[in-house]
Amino acid sequence: MIAIVQRADSVTIATAADILLAGELVVMPTETVYGLAGDATNPRAIASIYAAKGRPRFNPLISHVPSLAEARRHGVFSPMALRLAEAFWPGPLTLVLERRADSSIAELACAGLSSVALRVPSHPVTQALLDRVGRPLAAPSANRSGRLSPTRAEHAAEDLAGAVGMVLDAGPCVVGLESSVVAISPGDEATLLRPGALTRESLEAVAGPLHSAPDGAAPVAPGMLSSHYAPRATLRLRAQTRESDEAFLAFDSIGPDDALNLSRSGDLVEAAANLFVHLRTLDATGVARIAVAPIPESGLGEAINDRLFRAAAGR
Ligand code: TXA
Ligand code: MG
Repeated sequence: MIAIVQRADSVTIATAADILLAGELVVMPTETVYGLAGDATNPRAIASIYAAKGRPRFNPLISHVPSLAEARRHGVFSPMALRLAEAFWPGPLTLVLERRADSSIAELACAGLSSVALRVPSHPVTQALLDRVGRPLAAPSANRSGRLSPTRAEHAAEDLAGAVGMVLDAGPCVVGLESSVVAISPGDEATLLRPGALTRESLEAVAGPLHSAPDGAAPVAPGMLSSHYAPRATLRLRAQTRESDEAFLAFDSIGPDDALNLSRSGDLVEAAANLFVHLRTLDATGVARIAVAPIPESGLGEAINDRLFRAAAGR
């Protein structure tokens, strides 16, 4: 099994960069969740990402770049796209833009679409790696397709150790939820494709009212597949009390005192950071059902409820 490297010194970063430039994959930390990174300009590396994740078909990947200046080499930045990028980059915002014809990002990374998904991550280790590689890095969440996203290096390693040249461990992810994905239309309108680490309120303060992704339409984002983010156990949402065959995932004051709690103080930022790790912990006990306390829809609650709803769907 591959070693988990817990240093992020310049030698480690250089080694990880060499692995990536050779077309192999690296599990890398970001501020949202751990990513399964490959050279976005190398179609073979992209194909290995799809294979390692076991994605049912080729779904487009996010390409990570170090700066807005670099992002402009790959996507067409309308006034709306620029406003959002300037407000939230570096950070947990992914912009889906018209792809520039001269972008070096492999078409396979965009799944043959005419759009490209771009993100400038804020995590210092991700930034150091991007600097050293000097190429965009495609990186979906570092989990097997349909499983919970990893917020700890060891969770990524459980799923993917056999498929990567290195697991770069920088500790728990601060945010714990994936980036918000916003698509910009040719008419310069913004659509929230995936609620995520930036709240709708904060995005709308910059972009104005966001369109919602069409319901029931063909999924343009795997995060939109209803069975995404699934633990093995079935979930029962908005539960007030625990039934005898259930584990309980508490929030605020709702749930037994001895239950795992997303946030005892009802803090949604803390709840987001704990969501995937607590679901993994309960799932690992082998329990058949997990009851989850109600989470308010405000702020990060929208993204938390989105992930819970998808985890509960169709199981
Ligand atoms: O926080 C994150 O976004 C993490 C970290 C590693 O950066 N990455 C992540 O990637 O969550 P992934 O592949 O699990 O999710 C990427 C999302 C998917 O919902 C995908 O379909 C959507 O972005 N996406 C990518 N390119 C797209 C495109 N051209 N059009 C529409 N959606 C796109
Ligand atoms: Mg994912």
